[in-house]
Amino acid sequence: MKQLKVVVTGAIGQVAYALLPRIAAGEMFGADAEIDLRLSDIPQVIERAKGVVMELEDGAFPLLVRVSASADRAETHAGADWVLLVGSVPRGPGMERADLIRKNGPIFVDEGRAIAQHASSEVRVVVVGNPCNTNCLIARANAQRVPDERWTALTRLDQNRARALLAAKAGAGVREVKKLVIWGNHSATLYPDFTNATVNGKRPVSVVDRAWLKDGYVQEVQQRGAAVIAARGASSALSAAQAVVDHVRSLVRPTPRGDWFSAAVVSDGSYDVPRGLVSSFPLTSLGDGGYQIVPGIKLNAFAQSKIAASVADLEKERELVADLLASASEPAMVAQATEQQEALAAVAVDDQPDDWRRASSERGAREGS
Ligand code: LMR
Repeated sequence: MKQLKVVVTGAIGQVAYALLPRIAAGEMFGADAEIDLRLSDIPQVIERAKGVVMELEDGAFPLLVRVSASADRAETHAGADWVLLVGSVPRGPGMERADLIRKNGPIFVDEGRAIAQHASSEVRVVVVGNPCNTNCLIARANAQRVPDERWTALTRLDQNRARALLAAKAGAGVREVKKLVIWGNHSATLYPDFTNATVNGKRPVSVVDRAWLKDGYVQEVQQRGAAVIAARGASSALSAAQAVVDHVRSLVRPTPRGDWFSAAVVSDGSYDVPRGLVSSFPLTSLGDGGYQIVPGIKLNAFAQSKIAASVADLEKERELVADLLASASEPAMVAQATEQQEALAAVAVDDQPDDWRRASSERGAREGS
C-alpha cells in the first residue's frame, strides 16, 4: 500500500476541523493510501492543534498511520506529497475576498519558500485560503523549483454551488448536471459557464429560464459565499471541506467520460488568459494527480465577456501583490509575516467559543499570568 505525507495548514480552523477526519478516513486519497497527516499552524495556537491530533488518534482511523502537529514547517513539510494551504485570515461580513490580500499574502510567501525547501520533489499544492488564486500565485512565485502544473487553487466550492443550484432549479439530481465549470477568479467575478453544461444531456437554456441563467443564477453563485457569511456569521467551512475533498479526488481519479471539473491552475495562455495567472479552467485528469485544460471549448460573447472580467480582476490582484512575487527584500518580508501571524492569532482567539475563552483565561489566572 502506498503512503502519503499530507500537510494541512490552518489546522485549528473550522475548515480544517471539517476536513481532517475525512482525509484520515480515506475519502480524499482512497482506500489504498495510508496517510501520514501533518497539522501545521502558527506557534500561538499549535497547542490546540495538538488537541485535534488527540481527537484524530481517538478516531482509530485504519488508514491513518501517523498524525502530528507542529508550527515548524521544516518538520511538517519534510518530504510532503500534498500540501493543503488552508490557513489564512477568513473573510468577515461585508468584506470581499480581495480585501484580505495584503493581510494573507505574506504568509503564502513563507509557504512557498517552505514547500520549495522541504517538500517532496513530486509535491502537489492546493491553495484554499483566500484570495486563493492570488495566494497560489504568490506561493508559486516563491517556490521556483516546483513546476507550474503542481499548483492548484480551489474553485470547486463555486462549482459545487453552481451544480447544486442549477440541479435544484431544473428539478434534476446533482449527478445529472455535467460539464458545469468555473472560469476565472474565486471572487464576485467568477463565471459558472452554463452555456457548455448539460442537465440530463440537455442544454440548461432548454430546461430553465434563460434570463434567470444570465442574471439571477450567475450572481447567486458569485455571492453565495457572502450569503453564507451573512447567515452563519462565519465563512463556509463544511462545504469548503467538501470542496477540498472533491478537488483532490478529481485529480487522483480519472475524470468520468462526458464530464469536466474545474480548479484554478497556472495559465499556459489557453483561452487568452495571460500566462502565469492562476485562473480557473475546465479540466480533466488521468487520475495521476495532474490535469489537462480542456481544449477547444466554444465560448459565446456572453461567456467571453464574463471570463474577461474575471481575468481583469486577477490581473488587478496581481498588481496589488507585485512586491510579494519574489522581489521583496528579506527584512520587509519578515516584518510582514510577523504582522500576519499576529493577525491570525487574534482571529484564532476571537473565533473561540466562550467556554474555551473562559477555560483559557482561568488557566491563565491559575498560572498567575
Ligand atoms: C467561500 O466561498 O465561501 C469561501 O471562499 C469563504 C468566503 O470568503 O467566501
